[in-house]
Amino acid sequence: MKNSIENNLKVWDKDYDWPKDGDEWDEQARSSHHSYEEWKRAVVETFIAANVSSDSTVLEIAPGHGRWSSEIVNRCKALYLVDLSPSCIDYCKRRFAKYSHIQYIVNDGQSLDAISDACIDFVWSYDSFVHMEADVIGPYFKEIYRVLKRGRKAVIHHAGRRHPFLWLGFLRYIRPSPIGRVGKHVYKVISMGEWLNDDGWRSNVSATVIRSLAEEHGLRVQAQVRYWGQKQEYGVPRCGDYISVLLKP
Ligand SMILES: C[S@@+](CC[C@H](N)C(=O)[O-])C[C@H]1O[C@@H](n2cnc3c(N)ncnc32)[C@H](O)[C@@H]1O
Repeated sequence: MKNSIENNLKVWDKDYDWPKDGDEWDEQARSSHHSYEEWKRAVVETFIAANVSSDSTVLEIAPGHGRWSSEIVNRCKALYLVDLSPSCIDYCKRRFAKYSHIQYIVNDGQSLDAISDACIDFVWSYDSFVHMEADVIGPYFKEIYRVLKRGRKAVIHHAGRRHPFLWLGFLRYIRPSPIGRVGKHVYKVISMGEWLNDDGWRSNVSATVIRSLAEEHGLRVQAQVRYWGQKQEYGVPRCGDYISVLLKP
């Protein structure tokens, strides 16, 4: 199934059950040999707490049921939650009903029209750009550049397939058949090094693609990490993902 805006809307708005509001996605913790709680704390401390203060206006793109929003909401002055799924935004409205400093926006899956220029201190998105293709990520980066204040950052988790093999991405879409299954498996192994697990419905994007889209839209790539921590002990190795830190200079 293609990683289109339409399919993302169908999957996350209608089909998916959200059994633990996103906390069921513990594969990255298991792949880096930590409990989910410890791994999640490391994500929050390294990427969220380090970039958010009580004065910050934060934008989270694609919060789903608010797994990370719940870690941001008490640390910031204002929070925008933008998702293309009306049911996810409705869920967040109920979950965070006691907070008055959150603005909820259902968008078209690639623009941030409802947000003014240069008003955001920090942009966060986890487990969502991994399902977006480059033709959606490009417009988002243009918008992220527009809404960020100068000198402020966006931290984005995204797919990290091996760049030289992206041209073989058509193998994902051979119609269902034994040959189609072999093609999909072969592409998964060569483009992300995953033998046993599925491809996590990752889009056909590499760290190099993310870098060039960011630079094309004026964002400076400060870091692209698969592992972090003193001993590089935490990470997002499953499916070969990366987290990119993008700065508006
Ligand atoms: C796998 S869920 C992740 C949710 C949340 N970030 C988390 O980590 O628990 C993917 C989310 O991305 C949203 N999404 C997918 N494509 C999107 C797009 N193009 N624009 C905005 N939201 C999108 C979906 O509606 C869904 O809420």
